[in-house]
Parts: sequence; structure tokens; C-alpha cells
Amino acid sequence: MCGIVGYIGKRQAQPILLNSLARLEYRGYDSCGIALASSGVAVYKDAVRVAELAKSLPHLEGTVGIGHTRWATHGAPCQKNAHPHTDCTGKIAVVHNGVITNYQQLTNQLTKEGHKFLSETDTEVIAHLVEKYYSGNLVDAVENAIRDIEGSYAVIVLAEDKPGIVVARKDSPLVLGIGDRENFIASDVPAILDYTNRVMYLEDGDVGVVTPDSVSIRRDGKEVVRETQKILWSSEEAKKGGYEHFMLKEIHEQPRVIRDTISEYVLATEPVLAVPDGRLDSVLLLACGTSYHAALVGKYVFEELLGIPVRAELASEFNYFRNCLTTPLSIAITQSGETADTLKAMKRLKEAGSRVAAITNVVGSTASRIAHQTIYTRAGPEMSVAATKSFIAQLVALYWLALSFSRLDARTALELKMKLRQLPEKVIEVLDNESRIAEHAEFLAKYEDAFYIGRGINYAIAMEGALKLKEIAYIHSEAYAAGELKHGPFALLSKDTPVIAIVADDSTREAVLTNIKEIKARGSPVLAVAAEGDEAITELADFTISVPDTDPVLSPIVNTVVMQLLAYYAARKRKCPVDFPRNLAKCVTVE
Ligand code: G6P
Repeated sequence: MCGIVGYIGKRQAQPILLNSLARLEYRGYDSCGIALASSGVAVYKDAVRVAELAKSLPHLEGTVGIGHTRWATHGAPCQKNAHPHTDCTGKIAVVHNGVITNYQQLTNQLTKEGHKFLSETDTEVIAHLVEKYYSGNLVDAVENAIRDIEGSYAVIVLAEDKPGIVVARKDSPLVLGIGDRENFIASDVPAILDYTNRVMYLEDGDVGVVTPDSVSIRRDGKEVVRETQKILWSSEEAKKGGYEHFMLKEIHEQPRVIRDTISEYVLATEPVLAVPDGRLDSVLLLACGTSYHAALVGKYVFEELLGIPVRAELASEFNYFRNCLTTPLSIAITQSGETADTLKAMKRLKEAGSRVAAITNVVGSTASRIAHQTIYTRAGPEMSVAATKSFIAQLVALYWLALSFSRLDARTALELKMKLRQLPEKVIEVLDNESRIAEHAEFLAKYEDAFYIGRGINYAIAMEGALKLKEIAYIHSEAYAAGELKHGPFALLSKDTPVIAIVADDSTREAVLTNIKEIKARGSPVLAVAAEGDEAITELADFTISVPDTDPVLSPIVNTVVMQLLAYYAARKRKCPVDFPRNLAKCVTVE
């Protein structure tokens, strides 16, 4: 999704803006641009990568500027639609994330009033509205402009003759980085980590003026104070650290992530989650994308360990259920804490009276501010678009939550906790097998279609495996509950449709073995992912990847790491841009 940055201070803005934009590339984008104010406003933008834009730029003097990476929503990716956008005078420049829903109506009105539009974007209306209301006071003009706007925005406005940058937010994240006689603005923290770790999150309805030495924020015309928070992530964590891709680095960080996420909760003497009336009778889990697969694992784990009914819903669907059938407790799972559909579902649930908790990786994210309680995962910044370590951290947090309420006898619960704490070692064992997994992935890379199957808790991991393969290796892949393949998909089985079968050492094993036999009889090559020492599988499947033995409930962790490596090496073999898959974005802030 789009990324925005701004700088005002004592240094030249151009290199800072370009560096911050490069740090936002992980979000996915198709065009980029910057605007600097010194004598006039200079705008440079195009449908190119940040490095190409940087090469094409002259040296621009100026210590105040804004920048943007665009992920097209209104109008094709091209120079005229790239941000920043300016007003008719060219003296006001704007970058914006979000969607202005009434832009067409506003554009018609402003056109009648004589404004000339140069792009097809919704954003450009903001520049013209600010121009319309501007009579020397930029913040007043921005406040008036946003009164006319419907939709979502994180916006930065620059005017050539003003000593400050104006910012505003509604339903799109915006963070201020506080420096020494300089301040930074960004849509998310990694953009500014090279310069500061002191941040201030704006809230919906805030309008602020940022100068080199001050930040003042107003809401409904009154001054408000927003707390400054310290970010624990380092800028090194947001870099590749010698790996070819962020995704591979993040896969390898998972043993550490499991440890850190566990230690976050290990010392808690009370259940880590506050529950209405101290009773946990049912739970509603909500999420999108990969986080939804964590919700599906969570459903299974909560049902298994707590014996309570659990619903796992896609937030994007839940928002359109006519009846908001809720439960006293809901948990939203979102690595970024900014997914528009998930945030909408959280607000809907709060209105319906549910206590809403969030599991998120980003301190201060919108989800954490909507939630009654936030459970943080400790994955560190995740830069690759495809979620890996954040997913593993979500699973660990869900296991810990379930264990803290479990109705298991004390000994079984303790054993499971011990097995949970052994998971980093198990993941290291999977990573030690990386080169063999890579060979299998290269075999998979030859195909255009694939099926993933699993049963029980590992059906969710089959879904995650298929999602990873399609999103980064561009191979059409579908996940099925193993027993469902014969209800239709069998028609597609042939030597050209490999099947990746997750065979857990649990009550589903025999049934999956039977399913593999049925598949083999139809000529599809089968790659099985099975517990070490399962010789029956080795004989039956064409290829087998062994994973270390663990409790069946925890098996999703080791199986997921195999799924991630298969997709990663298949994508590499197919020369796909692993970290920045086409058309995708890390953080989806539109519905
Ligand atoms: C995007 C990302 C996915 C992620 C999904 C949900 O599609 O590319 O990796 O799983 O959003 O994001 P969330 O931040 O809510 O977990």
C-alpha cells in the first residue's frame, strides 16, 4: 500500500526523503515522488522504483519536504497519477494514503469553480481544497478541506511560504518521529528508524503542525497532547543483514521470534488476557490473509484445549454479515495492526458490546488503540510482503493464550508448555534441512498448478502453504481439507498437478494416507511433509520432507516453516521478486 514520508529540520531533506521511501518499499508500490520547499515547491515523481527516481533527480536544496510511494487505486500507475499532487498555483503539495470516497463530487464542484485537475486520483482534490480555503493560514485551510472530505486519509501538506508541515489523519496510520531540532513524518515506523526511535502516533481527527522544533496537534479546534513512545525495533532489524531477501532472513529469525514471544508472557502470573466475568465460554477470532490462517489454527487449539466453541471469521466477510452475532470476547489478529477490514470489524464488535482484544506486532498501531487489550507478538519489523515470522509469532501467542485458560490437568498443561518452549530447537532442525527442501521446491517450480492438503489443525497450514506459493512464486495453488479433494478437485488431478500433503502424526494420519493413495492412483506426484521416522509415508509418497516430531497441536509451527521454504525457493527458481510480489501490499489499508 502507499507509503508517506515527510521531513523538516536542519539537514538537507532530499537524501532523507529518498532513504525513508526506500525503507517503505516493502509495503509494495508502483510509483514514487518527492516535493521540496525552498524557493517554490519542486515536485519530482514517476512510475519508477525509488532508486531510479533518485538517479534521475538533480540536487535539490531544501530542508523541508514530503515523499510518497503509490499503490494505484484511482487511476493507472503513471507519472501524472503519482504523488505529490499540487494545487493550480503549484505552491501547495500534498501526499495522501487512504481513499477519498466523495472525490468525484468534489472534483466536479471544484472544476466548476475553475480548478484544473491534472490526474485521475482521488488525492488531487485535497490539494485544490486546501488552495480554495488558503488565505495565509495553512492549518486552518487543511482543517476546512478535511471537513469536506469523506473517506480515509493520512495526509501531509506542504506550502512554499510556510515554516511548518501540516499533517492530518483519519482511518489511515500516521506517525511522527521526534528528533533533535528536526522531525519526521511517516505512514509507518521502519521509514524513520534510521533517524529516531521516539515516535508519536496521531489519532483519528488529529490535525498537526510540525516544525523543526515543535509538534502541535489539534482536534476539533482544541490543542491535544499525544504521548511520545519509544520503539524497541532497531534499524538493523529492518535491513537484510546479509540475506538475499528479507523473506529468507525473516524465516531464519523464527527460532528467536518464538523465544521472544514466549518470554513476553512466561512471567505472567495471571492469564494474559482479561476475560469478561473471568469466564471464557466462547471466542470469536477475526483476521485477514495469513493472519486468518492463524485464526483457524487458534480455533482448533482453543476448542481442543479449552473445550469451548470458537468461530474464526474473515474480517472482510464478517463486516457484511447482516447480524453482528458476537461473543463476549473477540480477538482480532493482525500483524500490521492496520488492515482496514480488521479494524472495521473490531469497531463493529465494540459497538455490539464485545470485549475486543488484538494480537498484533506493531506497538501503537490502530488495532492496539481500538482494542480493549493488546497482546503483542515479538516478531520485530517484518519487511517482506509475505508474512512469515509474524504468523509464527501469532501462533505462539494463541498457544500461550489457550494454555493460560486451559482446562487440561496441571501435568498435561505443563508438558505442553515445555514442548512449546522446545519449538525454537525444532524449527532450527527444519532450517538445517533447508537445502533438501530447496531441491523439492525447485521441482515444484516447474508446475503451474498445485494442490495442498491437510486435515484438522494442519488444514489451516495447507491453506497457508498454498497462499505462500501463489503470492510469491505465482503458481496457482489451492488448499483442500484432504477428504474434500474427491468432491470435485479430483477432476483436475494429473501428472501436471503435484499435491503437497501434510501428514501429521495425529488422529488424522490414517485418513490422509488413504487420501494420498487415492491421489497417486490418479497420477499426481505427491510431496509429503511428515514426522521423522514415518516410513509408511516415505514408501507411499513420491517425495518426503521430514519434520521433527512434536505435539500434534504444535505441529503447525514446524510444518509452516517447510511451507515457507518451499514457496521461497520455488519463487527464487522462477526468478520472482520474492519480497515485493506483483500487485500485493504488506499493509492493506483499504477495504
Ligand atoms: C496483506 C499482507 C499479508 C497479510 C494480510 C493481513 O495481504 O500481504 O501478508 O497476511 O495483509 O494483514 P494483517 O496485518 O492484518 O495481518
